[in-house]
Amino acid sequence: MIDRARRLFAGYRRWGLARSARIFVDKSALKVAQRVFGFAEWHAIAPTSLRTYRVGLAAMANEVKANVVVEVGCGLGAILARINAPTRVGYDVDDGVIRAARALRSRAITFRVGSFPDVVEPSIDLLIAVNWPHDFPPDQLDSWLTPLLQRARYLLVDIIAPSGPSPYRYFHDFAFLSGRATCVRREPLGEEHREFLLLKVIQ
Ligand SMILES: C[S@@+](CC[C@H](N)C(=O)[O-])C[C@H]1O[C@@H](n2cnc3c(N)ncnc32)[C@H](O)[C@@H]1O
Repeated sequence: MIDRARRLFAGYRRWGLARSARIFVDKSALKVAQRVFGFAEWHAIAPTSLRTYRVGLAAMANEVKANVVVEVGCGLGAILARINAPTRVGYDVDDGVIRAARALRSRAITFRVGSFPDVVEPSIDLLIAVNWPHDFPPDQLDSWLTPLLQRARYLLVDIIAPSGPSPYRYFHDFAFLSGRATCVRREPLGEEHREFLLLKVIQ
């Protein structure tokens, strides 16, 4: 209880009253959704009011003017919900988070349980995968991405600074894509120790 009050006060000092209140309300609502749908706790403690990179990421995505956007590891679909594109498809291995995303987001977005090998879209303008690929080894990531490069025009990924505190096992710099994709934009989007890269696939 005292810990919780301390955290609330620290949030108020850092973000001010209005944003702290918004974060508190959003986390409370997501906690309820987590109980209903049984998804991983991370989603309930990281609402977009707290992790605003999703807003900036959607703005980067919107610059591509994509027809077909696919996000793998889409979570609750908070990024896809902010992207303007006729076709938006989210894949995630967590069945609970996909059920929640279907309930929370517009029916214009398609959500499927799955990962990179399950992506069926024949042509993808923008493929997004952020905030999870660093849990997997480089050869795994390469084998996931390589077949999709033939079908994708742009990739949006994140890189993590090895010097910062990180829950990840790997720190991919996507150098293995050299000669196959070129970085056209690189932004921190308010995150410490993380940057987001927009890569154009060389056709
Ligand atoms: C930290 S969340 C990030 C969600 C979203 N990308 C965002 O930034 O809001 C990571 C998500 O990746 C999903 N995930 C983890 N491993 C995956 C895999 N191999 N394939 C697809 N999704 C995966 C998790 O279930 C989780 O929903």
